[in-house]
Amino acid sequence: MPRAVNILFAGDVVGGLGKRTLLGLLPALRERLEPDFIVVNGENAAGGLGITPRIADQLFRAGVDVITLGNHTYRQREIYGYLDARREILRPANFLRSQPGHGWCVVERGGVSLGVVSLSGNLFMDAGRPAFAEADAALHALRDRAEHVLVDMHAEATSEKVGMGWYLDGRVTAVVGTHTHVPTADARILPGGTAYVTDVGMTGPRGGVIGVKREQAIEAMATKMPGCELMTAMSSEHGKSKSSLCKVTGQCQMGSLYHPVSSPSVVRPAGSFIPLSFHYAESFSFRAPDGLWRPPQSL
Ligand SMILES: [Fe+2]
Repeated sequence: MPRAVNILFAGDVVGGLGKRTLLGLLPALRERLEPDFIVVNGENAAGGLGITPRIADQLFRAGVDVITLGNHTYRQREIYGYLDARREILRPANFLRSQPGHGWCVVERGGVSLGVVSLSGNLFMDAGRPAFAEADAALHALRDRAEHVLVDMHAEATSEKVGMGWYLDGRVTAVVGTHTHVPTADARILPGGTAYVTDVGMTGPRGGVIGVKREQAIEAMATKMPGCELMTAMSSEHGKSKSSLCKVTGQCQMGSLYHPVSSPSVVRPAGSFIPLSFHYAESFSFRAPDGLWRPPQSL
């Protein structure tokens, strides 16, 4: 009988503030939750746009087992070779096969194996191939290789993420949604036994618009002029904001799915017959006694 497994999933890490928040809090979270695996969506970690090898290495050194990505995967050119070379960093599996990187991997801890699959939605997104067909292909590839399977469905449309949850219900351990940066209140176990949440939210500053400085975001929305591509995260690796705006809005939120598993009734063709019974999700909002929590600057 396989033992229960705990997975800590942290939603989209946004900019330097998000990264330092994650790195600053991980030790306490590991102690409190005792996760077997830590999976992090890092597609906004480099100033809001993509990820660099240096940041990925920092996350791995901090104990992150797998990094998933999304629509900003290729924003930093220096990551291209790293995506091909490092097994535990995933771009969406339903990108074109010609694009750098790969979309699933298997990690092992303490005799338990976890397959992780990264998918991109197709609605309002630019993935080159269909997510649902690729989900089937990834599960086929993972058959007999992983006891548990976690799917990160990085998508804009809630309907598409809900659909993917139902599509994979009973076939994977968990489907977690990312990309919108706002956590949804629908975490639950689906009837087939799959843990599901439409979006876990971001790890980043809450005082802006999904991690972007609010003046920039509001101006673009109000004027209907281009600007989105030029928007900067509230705190980035490449240009840390020194503005008071950043300081007064430095509270951080971390979306996470914490998923102990063990019950006798679910058959999951994606792997071996691992039972499921319990699902628990929570969003952490950190506050220091003075009302703000700031990650250590040195991280
Ligand atoms: Fe995204």
